[in-house]
Amino acid sequence: MSSGSLLSTSLTAGESASPRIVGGHGAWFRLADGREVIDASNTAAPLGHCHPEIIEAVRQAADAPVINEGWHWAERDEAADDLLGIAFDGEDWAGAVRFFISASEANDAALALCQALTGRRDLATRERAYHGGAGLARELTVQPQWHGGLAGAGSSAAPPRLATVHELPAPGGARVTGQPDPTAGSDWLPAAREQLASSAAVLLDYSQGGIYHSPHYQDRVAALAAAEGTYWIADETVTGFGRVGGWFQFQHGQARPDLVTMGKCLSAGGAAAGAVVLSRKLLDRLDGTTWQSYSTYRAHPVAMAAIRAHLRVSSRDGLYQRAAELDEVMHKRLAEVAAQHPSVERIDGRGLHWTIELRGPDWRNWRGEDANPLASRVVERALEAGALIATSGEQTSLFLAPPLVITDAELAVIFDSVHRGLELADAELAASIA
Ligand SMILES: Cc1ncc(COP(=O)(O)O)c(C=O)c1O
Repeated sequence: MSSGSLLSTSLTAGESASPRIVGGHGAWFRLADGREVIDASNTAAPLGHCHPEIIEAVRQAADAPVINEGWHWAERDEAADDLLGIAFDGEDWAGAVRFFISASEANDAALALCQALTGRRDLATRERAYHGGAGLARELTVQPQWHGGLAGAGSSAAPPRLATVHELPAPGGARVTGQPDPTAGSDWLPAAREQLASSAAVLLDYSQGGIYHSPHYQDRVAALAAAEGTYWIADETVTGFGRVGGWFQFQHGQARPDLVTMGKCLSAGGAAAGAVVLSRKLLDRLDGTTWQSYSTYRAHPVAMAAIRAHLRVSSRDGLYQRAAELDEVMHKRLAEVAAQHPSVERIDGRGLHWTIELRGPDWRNWRGEDANPLASRVVERALEAGALIATSGEQTSLFLAPPLVITDAELAVIFDSVHRGLELADAELAASIA
């Protein structure tokens, strides 16, 4: 599908819910038709749009010379110091930082490093994971049809897999709608141990596919991984930097990862950036070696400036803690959503990241055949009411992740829009039963 010369890359399935954006400020997008709507799902904009300090940092960095990752650039060292000194403050196990262009690239490089260190080829993640669209990150993106292939009515096709990927069961309970956590018991542990024993690394994230963090689950997987000589990588691409309250989600459990990967909000939208933080223990293991991975635009001066400005603003203004304050409010409002809309099947989330799953076709069968799926139509209706909500690209999932600077009044607009959108899903459900 194309619009002019550009091949369409819309994440939301279907055409209807992809508005033309021409500007933004705070939590708001300005659309080509002159309307302003709230950006209700954007995990790369923690400070909102066009934050003056991000703009200023990027402007100043624009007069840097053309340098690549191989040359020394003082602000790169300072960005690494800031990342460890501010966001990893008190996490004494964290040893060093390497910057990347995206979270996909950071995941790919981290996984390859673990393969090199262990001599193992297999990798592990949990069900419904999304870890990116490149290299080994794409291999660990186990949601159907997210492997860089095709989805749609014409035909759907996935490329052959590059690695054997083990899928651990996911902690899929739901705080709002009350589904039990299938991993609460211990019956899955022996099989998981076997899967981890043959894997170089297990990569866990805490939001994709509507699966959120369980400290108990994290700590048990971490213990199994440690016992089997398997590296544990925490993918904080979505949940890092305050999305769930506090700097990182892994901090809500006891265990600490071997590596942490990140991207998206790391640079607050100021430039493309990803990073890997390595534990001190892993650094000791690397002693006397160099990590043979290089790319031209990694750690670009503009990205370094944006990261530093983001860390400064977020820590100064306490934004990384704001989602924790809003967790109860979000929970309460989403309980109202669940109670009022029979079309809702499951709601779970933390802080300022929540997934609403609608009753409808099973996501496991999603192949993108429907050009205008239910979730996209709900989004279109919600947009008319003033908020742009994203879908996960499947037919039935919506997610809410507004900027951390969102105000109470703006949250009210989001929830009005959610209710308006879900009225459409309710009406369709009622018609299908009648
Ligand atoms: C958990 C997680 N990891 C990695 C990625 C890849 O990030 P990027 O698309 O910025 O490379 C994503 C993107 O959605 C993600 O959600």
